[in-house]
Amino acid sequence: MITASTIEEARAALRQLNPDGNKSVGFTPTMGSLHQGHLSLVRASRDENDISVASVFVNPTQFGPEEDFDNYPRDPEQDSTLLQREGVDLLFHPRPEEIYPPRFHTNVRVKKVTENLCGSSRPGHFDGVATVVAKLLNIIRPHRAYFGLKDAQQVRVVETVVRDLNMDVEIRPMPIVREADGLALSSRNRYLSAEQRRRALCLSKSLFAAAELIESGERDADQVVARMKEIINPDEELEIDYISTVGWESLDEQRDLCGTVLVAAAITFGTTRLIDNVIVDAGQLPETDEE
Ligand code: PAJ
Repeated sequence: MITASTIEEARAALRQLNPDGNKSVGFTPTMGSLHQGHLSLVRASRDENDISVASVFVNPTQFGPEEDFDNYPRDPEQDSTLLQREGVDLLFHPRPEEIYPPRFHTNVRVKKVTENLCGSSRPGHFDGVATVVAKLLNIIRPHRAYFGLKDAQQVRVVETVVRDLNMDVEIRPMPIVREADGLALSSRNRYLSAEQRRRALCLSKSLFAAAELIESGERDADQVVARMKEIINPDEELEIDYISTVGWESLDEQRDLCGTVLVAAAITFGTTRLIDNVIVDAGQLPETDEE
């Protein structure tokens, strides 16, 4: 595995790995501190492409001033070992100054799909994500790029950037990897105490219950959200940031569920914020008898 810390080194490595430019390149951007969720993307990239590239970059611009940028877990050596073991050909591991040099003035801002869910509780977050992902895709120029549905809204944001800016890359959304008991893997799970870890299960449980309700015919979003609140059972230790039922394409809030529905929720234990979601097919609304 080649490790590149500058853009020039990354491009030189890609020329070396793909001298005739006829090999397919898969790319997995990450913020490191890798777990099996990240590695599932890396494996898909390796299986579907001739060359597999991953990046580790804790992107400062997607963290709010009160968020955990400084404390975000970092483990570059372990990340490098894991990526090498997965058969990654190139690891791009830039410093912040490489990505944001002096006189950096461009911001990629996506409207609409950034307005609710995590977008409303983390102002500016998706500007940071859209900008860094656009930059990384321009640096690596992959044929396919791999993103986890754990961050479902991020997938829609990235798909929108790629479509609107005519970027020649296929976005490959990948399923959420969970612990055996249902908790979605996340770099932030390590912040949880044993008691919080136990309670955190209510998040995936509530989403599975929501999926079951919708699959058994419930179409009233209020009923679904009420059931989820019952299961999450918030108090001063565990707060609900949001529970939303939105259409998958538009991410518009839905009261009467139909089509492909994203049920998404975020909870906080003090400063630790966990998100999770399920995507459910709610079918079409029954036709009304209009004379
Ligand atoms: P990060 O949180 O490190 O996640 C990198 C990728 O791993 C994302 O696409 C995320 O959705 C995916 N991922 C995380 N946990 C997962 C799980 N349990 N199952 C499946 N996939 C999972 O997301 C980011 O970094 C950043 O915003 C980034 C896209 C790198 C831009 O800075």
